Amino acid sequence: MRRQVRLGGTFVLALATVFAVTALIAKTKKPAPKPTPAAGMKLPAGLSAEAKACVTCHLEHNPGLVVDWLKSTHAGQETTCLECHRAAKNAPGVSSAHEAQYRGGKWGKVIPITAVVSPKKCGECHEDQVAQYARSKMANTLRIISKLDHGLPVRLEGRLERKTGCLVCHGTIVKIKAGRVDRSTWPSVGVGRKNPDGSLGSCSSCHTRHRFSRAEARRPEACKQCHMGPDHPQYEVFMESKHGAMYVAQGGQYKWGASADDWRPGIAYRAPTCATCHFSRVGKVKGTHDATERLAWEVQTPRSIRPENFKPWPAKIKWQQARANMKGVCGHCHSPGWVDSFFADYDKVNVFYNTKYYDPAARMMKKLYARGLLDKKRFFDERLEQDFYKLWHYPGIRARTGAAMGGPVYTWWVGFYDLKVAFPRFMRRARALLKSGKKAKPYKLIPGAYQPHRLPY
Ligand code: HEC
Ligand code: HEC
Ligand code: HEC
Ligand code: HEC
Ligand code: HEC
Ligand code: HEC
Ligand code: HEC
Ligand code: HEC
Repeated sequence: MRRQVRLGGTFVLALATVFAVTALIAKTKKPAPKPTPAAGMKLPAGLSAEAKACVTCHLEHNPGLVVDWLKSTHAGQETTCLECHRAAKNAPGVSSAHEAQYRGGKWGKVIPITAVVSPKKCGECHEDQVAQYARSKMANTLRIISKLDHGLPVRLEGRLERKTGCLVCHGTIVKIKAGRVDRSTWPSVGVGRKNPDGSLGSCSSCHTRHRFSRAEARRPEACKQCHMGPDHPQYEVFMESKHGAMYVAQGGQYKWGASADDWRPGIAYRAPTCATCHFSRVGKVKGTHDATERLAWEVQTPRSIRPENFKPWPAKIKWQQARANMKGVCGHCHSPGWVDSFFADYDKVNVFYNTKYYDPAARMMKKLYARGLLDKKRFFDERLEQDFYKLWHYPGIRARTGAAMGGPVYTWWVGFYDLKVAFPRFMRRARALLKSGKKAKPYKLIPGAYQPHRLPY
């Protein structure tokens, strides 16, 4: 036992000496290479010297970003940093500061680059997706918001609330300042950001840089960033639905990365996610980046209407065709009877909501304004204005959204149930005001409200 230990000790000492000497020799010869963050990852073959400069230098500065690209489909498809970031010398947004990186000549000739990569750039290779997205409501949301007169959009929130709330989802107007992107307007990956080249949107809303993965966009969590919460609870509704339950139970086995052609119902996935019903190619139903192509109602609106009658951005497709497209998706896994009865209920929910709740409440508001009992100049500063908004914008939208996608808690408990309680209270308060004949007293709203905004359009 003791002998073994002593022997072991001698052996370790000898080994340590050998290592120390080898290390010394190595040190005098050349320093041991530092393990790079991308250790074990090969750069794609055939990289040009210019592209290699971007990759090598940025691997030092932002390894996470470059490894994302190395792992993306683009890296293997000769779509390098240059294909997306290279710009003409005088293009808007060329980063003049970046040219300093090339000082000393070690990195080859200076390449003008922009930080913003707009859909226009992606469109050089993905023409269809970009054309579809450009006509979608998501891309055009800033224009839509500025044309709507629900009152709230342009009159309630202050600038700070707008920038840190609304525009994170809806998108900023990206500006150029002193030779680079104006930091007060970027980063922004809101769906409708306006780019310096005039194009609309950010493809990284759903395909984050630099993976740009379809697998990621097919997950409901990609949509959840924006489509959740009290006034647009699509994620919560989906997770409550049977389809959501199956996504949780078997999603681990779905073939998320399959090509559009191989993303087949039953084979690549058992139940649909947001992407399947709204975007994917499903058999004969063509894939699209314009979700309106499958919608027969607008339900984010105070009153349910057909998309072609939505004035700020009328759909180019008739609702009957859109409905047929959506039914085409369902038909891959359900019989016509199942699908027809589902949509018959959904249509009835919209008509019921309009006639029993929205229309009488809206008629009452009209009467109050006409008699001068409410003041139309400022929205939301009188109790009844707030009550009216709270009717349609919360339970009103929730009831309809729940019925659209199979979430009964949203249809009933935080939808129709809440309407049932709030509606008579609203009407009683309104009748009392009518009877009194006295102008309603306005609230004084917290700072920020009613600051003038420069509208994007
Ligand atoms: C020698 C190192 C080096 C090389 C080569 C290099 N970069 Fe950079 N790059 C940087 C550094 C450092 C920054 C951050 C400093 C800054 O914001 O100007 C940066 C910033 C950027 C930005 C963000 C700019 C902004 O305004 O926020 C982009 C995009 C970019 N580089 C892309 C590229 C591309 C594409 C190439 C190849 C054509 C490239 N870089 C080559 C070092 C380099
Ligand atoms: C397929 C197109 C594409 C490729 C290829 C690409 N980028 Fe980008 N890059 C983008 C997009 C999109 C953004 C997000 C900027 C925006 O909002 O427009 C971005 C952002 C950046 C930023 C700023 C991001 C941040 O978080 O600070 C840097 C730096 C950058 N890219 C460098 C690179 C480098 C280096 C490479 C090559 C290894 C590369 N990019 C390859 C499209 C691309
Ligand atoms: C120079 C051409 C080129 C440019 C520019 C380009 N791509 Fe690609 N992209 C490709 C090729 C090639 C593929 C692989 C073939 C395919 O799947 O269509 C691809 C694949 C993709 C995929 C599917 C990836 C997967 O496997 O999951 C997405 C998503 C994508 N690109 C988004 C973008 C976005 C967003 C931009 C702009 C920021 C962009 N691309 C710019 C050429 C390009
Ligand atoms: C969490 C992300 C998010 C935030 C924050 C947000 N929105 Fe939205 N907004 C959405 C989504 C998602 C929709 C679409 C709902 C639908 O179509 O069912 C929407 C819809 C709208 C609409 C209706 C558009 C139409 O077509 O009728 C308006 C107006 C609007 N938002 C304005 C605002 C304003 C103003 C703010 C800030 C005070 C804001 N939003 C904050 C995500 C957001
Ligand atoms: C609102 C979310 C969203 C936005 C924004 C978005 N995409 Fe997609 N994209 C998706 C979804 C979901 C898929 C997967 C569709 C499917 O299942 O085949 C996809 C798939 C793709 C594919 C793969 C297509 C194929 O045939 O396999 C490309 C390429 C692509 N998107 C490019 C873009 C470009 C370019 C933009 C910007 C104009 C963009 N996307 C913006 C959600 C989005
Ligand atoms: C970064 C925020 C954001 C993300 C991520 C996002 N959306 Fe949206 N989406 C919006 C906003 C904002 C609107 C409202 C546009 C308007 O009406 O002004 C909207 C509208 C929609 C509409 C109704 C618009 C129409 O065309 O009639 C659908 C359907 C939709 N989104 C589906 C999706 C799906 C599916 C995903 C995920 C693959 C997704 N969205 C991801 C912000 C987002
Ligand atoms: C089983 C298919 C299915 C799934 C899964 C699904 N939806 Fe829907 N979605 C629908 C149908 C059907 C409608 C109503 C269609 C109509 O207008 O006739 C709808 C309506 C919508 C609307 C339109 C509301 C409006 O403003 O008019 C949005 C936004 C939306 N879905 C987003 C999502 C998001 C985000 C997810 C995932 C979290 C999702 N959907 C999952 C089928 C689906
Ligand atoms: C990829 C296959 C697939 C697609 C596409 C699909 N579903 Fe389903 N759906 C299922 C499966 C599987 C079930 C579970 C059936 C069961 O309960 O045994 C289901 C369940 C349902 C349920 C039952 C809800 C309940 O709790 O009773 C409804 C309603 C439904 N789907 C409607 C639709 C509608 C509407 C569409 C199209 C907008 C659609 N589905 C698209 C696979 C699909």
